[in-house]
Amino acid sequence: MNRLRDKVAIVTGAGSGLGEATAKLFADEGAKVVAADINYQSAQATAAAIVAAGGRAIATHTDVGAAADCEKMVAATVERFGTVDILVNNAGILTMGTALTLTEAQWDRMHAVNLKGAFLCSKFVIPHMQAAGGGSIVCISSISGVIGQRQMIGYNATKHAVIGLVRCLALDFADDNIRVNAVCPGTIDTPLLANVSAEDLELSLANTMMKRAADPREVAQTVLHLASDEASFTTGALFLVDGGQTAM
Ligand SMILES: NC(=O)c1ccc[n+]([C@@H]2O[C@H](COP(=O)([O-])OP(=O)(O)OC[C@H]3O[C@@H](n4cnc5c(N)ncnc54)[C@H](O)[C@@H]3O)[C@@H](O)[C@H]2O)c1
Repeated sequence: MNRLRDKVAIVTGAGSGLGEATAKLFADEGAKVVAADINYQSAQATAAAIVAAGGRAIATHTDVGAAADCEKMVAATVERFGTVDILVNNAGILTMGTALTLTEAQWDRMHAVNLKGAFLCSKFVIPHMQAAGGGSIVCISSISGVIGQRQMIGYNATKHAVIGLVRCLALDFADDNIRVNAVCPGTIDTPLLANVSAEDLELSLANTMMKRAADPREVAQTVLHLASDEASFTTGALFLVDGGQTAM
């Protein structure tokens, strides 16, 4: 119950799916949570549910693709809770397409949210972690960051790049006791799946050893481990949470 006691954690994309499950699990484990989302109502709903359950949380209206929003999110966190110990770069979007069908705008938006968002949030959080003597950043990549998948050129490019970002952040800030790791989920039962064709979803589940999608809480447990001091010697690492999909 107290694996994150009194830690201050920002979770982006906390209004839905994995971000929501992570924010709630962190609060259950004693963290003070900032639920950030471009959909402010959903972020507020997550924060309200945490508070109603006896936890501590605030919501911010944040587009992680906009530097000013990320800076404000971190400022609001420090103003309310004094510091930032944990950042979960979770916000993400998915638009399917090939090099021929994906538009430039779709490519750019996925990169702004999935990749630049993780860069910007880290940029504004790290000085506070340095001042506090350390911290943990967890970036949500995907199995799409380690394999190719049909009609996923833009999404997979961002998720591969997130792994590069994680490794460089881990290296640059290891001396500051800031650990940075990536979680690579397989299929998770969240609203994001509405953007995947029924055929590809079926194929994905058929190619998963466990033959099912994850409940978001099953992936949030790995995020919790990496965010917590239990993972004190783990940095620059990838954690596949994919029901065996990439192992067969
Ligand atoms: N669902 C899956 O099968 C799956 C698999 C692997 C990885 N992932 C990754 O997990 C993460 C969470 O996805 P999910 O499945 O929970 O999706 P979701 O659609 O349920 O939730 C994503 C949340 O991010 C928010 N968001 C979108 N753009 C944003 C922005 N610019 N700024 C701030 N918030 C924004 C949305 O409003 C939403 O609340 C994503 O990075 C996704 O790529 C998901």
